[in-house]
Amino acid sequence: MSDTDTTSRTLDTNWNPGSWRDVPFDAPFAYTDPSALQAARTRLAEFPPLVTSWEIERLKAQIAQAQRGERFILQGGDCAETLDECQPAPIANKLKILLQMSLVLIHGLRTPVTRVGRFAGQYAKPRSSPTESADHNGSVCELPSYFGDLVNRAPFTPEHRAPDPNLMVEGYKHASMTLNFIRSLLDGGFADLHHPEYWDLSFFHNADLSDARRAQYEMMSRTLADGLSFMENLGEQKVHESTRVDFYTSHEGLNLHYEEAQTRTVPRRTGYYDLTTHLPWIGQRNRQLDGPHIEFFKGIQNPIGVKIGPPINGDELISILDALNPTNEEGKIVLITRMGVSNVQANMPGLLARVKSEGRNVLWMSDPMHGNGIKTSSGIKTRNFNDILSELEQVVDAHHEAGTILGGVHFELTGEDVTECVGGAAGITEDDLTRNYATLCDPRLNYQQSLELAFLLAGAMSKR
Ligand code: PEP
Ligand code: CO
Repeated sequence: MSDTDTTSRTLDTNWNPGSWRDVPFDAPFAYTDPSALQAARTRLAEFPPLVTSWEIERLKAQIAQAQRGERFILQGGDCAETLDECQPAPIANKLKILLQMSLVLIHGLRTPVTRVGRFAGQYAKPRSSPTESADHNGSVCELPSYFGDLVNRAPFTPEHRAPDPNLMVEGYKHASMTLNFIRSLLDGGFADLHHPEYWDLSFFHNADLSDARRAQYEMMSRTLADGLSFMENLGEQKVHESTRVDFYTSHEGLNLHYEEAQTRTVPRRTGYYDLTTHLPWIGQRNRQLDGPHIEFFKGIQNPIGVKIGPPINGDELISILDALNPTNEEGKIVLITRMGVSNVQANMPGLLARVKSEGRNVLWMSDPMHGNGIKTSSGIKTRNFNDILSELEQVVDAHHEAGTILGGVHFELTGEDVTECVGGAAGITEDDLTRNYATLCDPRLNYQQSLELAFLLAGAMSKR
């Protein structure tokens, strides 16, 4: 895409970055101090953008390629990033696991892979209930739920749980520090994956692994050197001598005050860009056609993710596409399906057939995490590796049968050795969950589970 705008999207003259505020909405949280809210919004609007319009357009062009099966998108990161974890090791480790997974996928799928982190702004969380009750100073108290560090803080006290607009300013600053570190790491050669010491494959020797699976992993890891040359041949910049690997950011655009404040026009382009992130998405709980999120998102030029899970149907999905992408622009829409392992067969074929028969340009992405949350008998939120894998495999099959393209995957993961999801070759059981359960929201795949899933996905997709 050239630097001058070539888009043919028609612009809605009734839309402006603040028009979502006129949409009636039962907001799950509210700021109580209007002048503090205004001060935070003004400050945010004055700050420089976190990302640029040309990066956004480059990602859009790559999503368009992935829609056509010429590329694959790997999106992943924490469920909820936290301000406290804005530290070098967790950031570098998340980047490392995403780079390594992408390498496995490049090798297995024989296609370039674009990496998109749930990074540098994934600070706002939708909740199933606006309040929760728990013990506070010896008595049961009802307080706002924790909506992520962009809105309020996790400790169960009235002070921490009160929505605080200044957290948006703090969130911006932490996103900016995170992004600055990521950009420096990538520029400084961190992406040089030729070094075998970057790989921790010791879990392949886990006694619980079947012989067949162990042999498969060993074979794949032995041939990863090929993967590196493949990556180079495919026109990715040479990893050992390059200074750049393309990397993009994304987050759920839940707190529209934050998104609006950084949404602006830029020289030589038409329309508004949300410059907090490259790929904002609308969550499953906020995709109402007459809601403020669809209203906000329909006016921005960024590619947009939309999470879709039951009870969505074909008509509703087409109406969402009409609202968000009336010109059927390529690279614009990423449909992130999150069905749950037992709902794929009932839901996916109809949606795939409908979108295909209407000729809509979308990138189909699978999030096998969010429909598969379970609770252990002792009440710990977890996910089973086998359910995640099974949803992925079923989605791969559904696309194969429908003649559509699975162009990406979306995972909640971390580069740390956490114990939040059960299963996988690392052999994490329910008893292990308390050992290192660190997430403030949904359970994430750890380093080993993430890498294993990349191997299994590559295997599943290359077989079909
Ligand atoms: C999430 O991605 O963390 C999330 C809340 O997803 P969903 O909107 O699909 O439930
Ligand atoms: Co989540």
